[in-house]
Amino acid sequence: MQDILRELEARREAARLGGGARRIAAQHARGKLTARERIELLLDVGSFEEYDMFVEHRSHDFGMADQRIPGDGVVTGHGTVNGRLMFVFSQDFTVFGGSLSEAHAEKICKIMDQAMKVGAPVIGINDSGGARIQEGVASLGAYAEVFQRNVLASGVVPQISLVMGPCAGGAVYSPAMTDFILMVKDTSYMFVTGPDVVKTVTHETVTHEQLGGAVTHTTKSGVADLAFENDVEALLEVRRLMDFLPASNREPPPTRETADAIDRPEPSLDTLVPSSPNKPYDIKELILKVVDEGDFFELQPNYAANIVIGLARIGGSTIGIVANQPLVLAGCLDIDSARKAGRFVRFCDCFNVPIVTFVDVPGFLPGTGQEYGGIIKHGAKLLFAFAEATVPKVTVITRKAYGGAYDVMSSKHLRGDMNYAWPQAEIAVMGPKGAVEIIFREDIGDAAKIAQRTEEYRQKFANPFVAGSRGYIDDVIMPRNTRRRIGGALAMLANKRLENPWKKHDNIPL
Ligand code: HXC
Repeated sequence: MQDILRELEARREAARLGGGARRIAAQHARGKLTARERIELLLDVGSFEEYDMFVEHRSHDFGMADQRIPGDGVVTGHGTVNGRLMFVFSQDFTVFGGSLSEAHAEKICKIMDQAMKVGAPVIGINDSGGARIQEGVASLGAYAEVFQRNVLASGVVPQISLVMGPCAGGAVYSPAMTDFILMVKDTSYMFVTGPDVVKTVTHETVTHEQLGGAVTHTTKSGVADLAFENDVEALLEVRRLMDFLPASNREPPPTRETADAIDRPEPSLDTLVPSSPNKPYDIKELILKVVDEGDFFELQPNYAANIVIGLARIGGSTIGIVANQPLVLAGCLDIDSARKAGRFVRFCDCFNVPIVTFVDVPGFLPGTGQEYGGIIKHGAKLLFAFAEATVPKVTVITRKAYGGAYDVMSSKHLRGDMNYAWPQAEIAVMGPKGAVEIIFREDIGDAAKIAQRTEEYRQKFANPFVAGSRGYIDDVIMPRNTRRRIGGALAMLANKRLENPWKKHDNIPL
């Protein structure tokens, strides 16, 4: 018995050492933590239960028969984050560069299957040289097994990807299909083809970081949601993110005690919107003043910043926030912002997260760039997402709600449950000046007449009362009471039941 116990301990010790002390030191020298250190930081202390520590690859080619490392380059299992169950895989770059073999993929698939059965999130930590070259097509097939599970799990359990090292070639498509991607600056990158191939094919010279680093993907491509300075910061922020999310599509989001009174007035909001309709203000000020304790987990802050998305709580319950940002492009909707917000709205709807929408939108961004880029189809994504969403939807129009963008932004017509407007809201087909220049074209040369017509139009349409008289706005509210009114609406909607007609799936304009 003693011998067996000693052997077990020796085997465990070997597995824990991964690719050995030299490779662990190299990992640290790069500023990266090891696969196990990452899990330790991610999960509650002592909560991790590891699976498949003794799994080895089954490859014999290219001398692999003599190179077997228990665990085969990925640490998998389950544990808790603030007491809530999560499944985790963490690729171990010290073992064959974290490359994905058939056995490595089987371990990942096992925890994904388990997570689906019990209804708990999957957090994947990616740090891998890609397909295990020695295994050839077996590795490609194994990747596809993971992809298939990513797709089946989508909308069933939250899937989070932490990219903390290389993630290249087809391997990028597993994170790409998860709900959120978080990256670390300078040590992680994602691209379909690397700098060498790019140089050969397009003669462009780029570094790994420029082509697919954390900054690139959180500012230019929008592939990733957040970029962090180092592994520790990224892992701690994932813990914060998980606190907002439900375990699965069968569960409501978690609730948390809050000392922040639901009826807390915020008098400063009465003067947030400047008197000049063309003067910007920061919509994040409104968000921070309305949500519990000013705690807002913003996603994609540096990409398509003309729309703000993120998670927060009101009355202790998670909400998703979508808000036009007048500080950037005057809050116009464009291709990038429609895609960004559209996907987020669908995330919220999958996972029973009520959506609070703050509207100050002058319309869609004009230009050939937008039209040639397909704003028609991309804009439709956001419209589609709001229209199909059946979770509670509360909308507050703070200032402008013009044209098609009025309809898109969770309007009453797209089954908005409670639609509020601040007193200075302007809900119309377009702004007064543009409107007058079209309907009174003959007066364009006469500045005084145009000014008079503009004022008339402003009086008639640039207010919330026309929409209010039709019931498109349920109430005009004092800005200072926004938190109380949203909180009340969400409480009223807590048991909302709404189903879309049966279908295999919809055909969202991709
Ligand atoms: C097997 C691999 C490996 C791989 C790295 N290693 N990638 N072993 N299969 N794909 C091993 C190395 O042999 C080395 O072993 C150790 O991991 C560390 O690699 P280094 O090259 O020393 O590290 P570094 O200089 O940091 O470079 C990391 C790297 C580079 C950029 C990832 O290793 C690399 O370019 N690897 C190949 C990437 C690749 O072409 N993969 C296949 C892509 S196609 P030792 O024993 O020396 O420590 C793909 C498609 C997926 O992934 C398709 C899905 C549909």
